Amino acid sequence: MSDEVVENDLIHCIYCNAGTVRFSEADMVSLLEKAREANSALGVTGMLLYEEGSFFQVLEGPAESVDALYEKIFRDKRHRRITKIIRESIEARNFSEWTMGYAGVTRQDLKEIEGLNDFFYTKKCFTELDPGRAKKLLEAFKDGNWRASLR
Ligand SMILES: Cc1cc2nc3c(=O)[nH]c(=O)nc-3n(C[C@H](O)[C@H](O)[C@H](O)COP(=O)(O)O)c2cc1C
Repeated sequence: MSDEVVENDLIHCIYCNAGTVRFSEADMVSLLEKAREANSALGVTGMLLYEEGSFFQVLEGPAESVDALYEKIFRDKRHRRITKIIRESIEARNFSEWTMGYAGVTRQDLKEIEGLNDFFYTKKCFTELDPGRAKKLLEAFKDGNWRASLR
């Protein structure tokens, strides 16, 4: 018997935004501190990537909590032009040990992820990511070496 906890009604919601507000190191630390505390209370886990003013975030947890949190983030004045890329049911969490894993990444890093280099050569960071490419990015951080860069 596996001792894995089976959770019902689990979803993930993945969004990106088009570079808006610049976050200093201190801004990011403060954002993560608050987000991790709130997520822990809500049972939300996930990861957040940041590159030059653009974010890519995965929120996972009970559907109701994730949807409510996404609405809050969507209305947050610190970023605009948010696009929800994926919202779907999942069998299990990919980032269960992270109330919000974070990595600051560079364009160069992103080009090194298989299946994404064409995109990051020509596009603005994270914007216009389609569900297929968002999944590639998710897979890289879920299973690959990139996971080790989450803090
Ligand atoms: C890029 C980004 C990611 C965020 N991620 C989270 C998060 O994972 N959890 C969270 O509670 N708030 C997060 N926030 C903050 C929310 O937008 C919002 O400010 C926060 O939930 C405060 O809500 P309150 O009005 O209940 O205090 C994020 C904000 C930004 C800009």
